[in-house]
Amino acid sequence: MTEDFDVSAQIIRERTPGLAPSVAMVLGSGLGAVAEAVKNAVTIPYSDLPGFPVPTVQSHAGSLVLGRLSGVDVAIMQGRTHYYENGLADAMKPPLRTLSDLGCKTAILTNSAGSLRTEAGPGSLMMITDHINYAGMNPLIGEGGNERFVDMTQGYDRKLIQSFRDAAGSLGVTLHEGTYIWFSGPNFETPAEVRAARVLGADAVGMSTVPEVLIARWLGMRVAAVSIIANPAAGMGETALSHEMSMAKSAEGAADLVRLLDAVLEDISHG
Ligand code: HPA
Repeated sequence: MTEDFDVSAQIIRERTPGLAPSVAMVLGSGLGAVAEAVKNAVTIPYSDLPGFPVPTVQSHAGSLVLGRLSGVDVAIMQGRTHYYENGLADAMKPPLRTLSDLGCKTAILTNSAGSLRTEAGPGSLMMITDHINYAGMNPLIGEGGNERFVDMTQGYDRKLIQSFRDAAGSLGVTLHEGTYIWFSGPNFETPAEVRAARVLGADAVGMSTVPEVLIARWLGMRVAAVSIIANPAAGMGETALSHEMSMAKSAEGAADLVRLLDAVLEDISHG
């Protein structure tokens, strides 16, 4: 049987002759500038790619951009599907499988998140060094073989983390580090949930990324993930939370993240 990811990989190969993407990226909202910098970009709407879930969140474009960025052939997913959109923890499996089959050995994931740390304010960046799967859903349920028992001791690649640290240092960008806790959403957390998350040891809270990390690790990719802090988590700030406000604040961190990604790709291109 031909699987969706085989068909999608074939479509991508046909439309991007000569390109050999080695880095897959998933861009959260407001990071369009990363894809705009891609040279000789080929853009394919998810609707042309079987298995690629079309996002329902307005700020997520829903297209794959392929080309060369900072010396590396990249495949950039502009927009993702979240668990809360359809109740499927494995919705991102076909696209990530497609990109892995195309040769992507590295996945760089971005998101926006609420901060559980007062010193990490809106517009700042936090490198995810570990996570807590508080939503409890798992995209790997139903998979066979021993590969499903994914080791998460170093789920977030140490070398990539160091590369982000180095890039932040040389660019003068403050890069917080911490543990990301995944809540299903789509409601923002309650203040009591936020207090609980802090007791559990989390530094940022969000509604995405953890399923993608698990899928990418299962596929054998090395993973890095960065959050743009959009707001203090519920109960930690002065105001009520809204998607609109959180998008506006995360836009403030987008420029720094774009510079950081550029420098990290440059580092990857040197080997
Ligand atoms: N909680 C969950 N997800 C988020 C938040 C938040 O406070 N801000 C941006 N995404």
